[in-house]
Amino acid sequence: VDELEGKVAVVTGGAAGIGRGLAEAFAEEGMRLVLADIDEGALHATVSEMAARAIPVVGVVTDVSDPDAVTRLRDATYDSFGTAHVVCNNAGIGAPSPLTRPIDVDGWRRVFDVDFFAILHGINAFLPRLLEQGEGHIVNTSSRAGLVAPAHAGAYGPAKFASVAVTEMLHAELAELATPVAASVLTPGAVLTDLVRALQQRYEQSAGTEAGAGEFLARAAQAVLPIEVGRLVVRAIRERRLYINTHGETIDWLRERTDRVGRDAAELRTLL
Ligand SMILES: NC(=O)c1ccc[n+]([C@@H]2O[C@H](COP(=O)([O-])OP(=O)(O)OC[C@H]3O[C@@H](n4cnc5c(N)ncnc54)[C@H](O)[C@@H]3O)[C@@H](O)[C@H]2O)c1
Repeated sequence: VDELEGKVAVVTGGAAGIGRGLAEAFAEEGMRLVLADIDEGALHATVSEMAARAIPVVGVVTDVSDPDAVTRLRDATYDSFGTAHVVCNNAGIGAPSPLTRPIDVDGWRRVFDVDFFAILHGINAFLPRLLEQGEGHIVNTSSRAGLVAPAHAGAYGPAKFASVAVTEMLHAELAELATPVAASVLTPGAVLTDLVRALQQRYEQSAGTEAGAGEFLARAAQAVLPIEVGRLVVRAIRERRLYINTHGETIDWLRERTDRVGRDAAELRTLL
């Protein structure tokens, strides 16, 4: 999508956090917005606040883990604006848990439903029309945990890895079709959402005495703002970039991982 003004962006998890940042950045470009969120109250508040600034925006209460709800979101988008161009599969949840104690497999499935399968629902619902129209961009929100899995992330790391993989595959398959429709994957490090900000304040007030406070505050100090993430996404859409990353630290970790894969492989190959 080269010219964003007047085009339509759909953002899931759009009521808050990064999704709200995406919405604000798209609004700066003069886009029309469809915000989807499971939290009706927060969605209503965000949509009212943006509409009061004369931003063309509609809200659609949606549980992205339900394929029928995502189809309804698509239909509501076309009913409201008659078209869609940018689709951000952004809603996500986390549920940290260790692997060294019995794993709550049902809990893992729920995280996969929201963080991964919802991306497939979004692709199923919107991609055929984007292809038909010959213009469109799908942005899937993963995480740095989708490039280098942190310990204790529970299902979040594997679901975010799967989100990166599916976007890489989609990118390759779109290239085979030689369509202008493109795909990107967003892999943010720490982003200063309301949740992060609230925890930051709490830890600062307790003078960092709570467990993990120091590490959290160090991370939060590196956090970027949701609107900054949104502006990166705008640029990536214009430039048709596959990877959208916010923190150089993630790339250092990725390099360490690749180096280790290479080192282990090279040293084991001496047996062949
Ligand atoms: N904040 C960060 O530092 C960070 C870093 C990396 C990746 N992410 C990813 O960014 C995305 C957004 O996260 P955030 O930090 O803005 O979180 P957030 O909790 O601030 O916002 C997420 C929004 O998604 C909504 N949501 C949750 N489940 C949903 C569902 N089933 N259907 C529809 N909406 C649902 C929530 O109501 C909320 O409004 C997630 O995919 C998250 O994994 C966040």
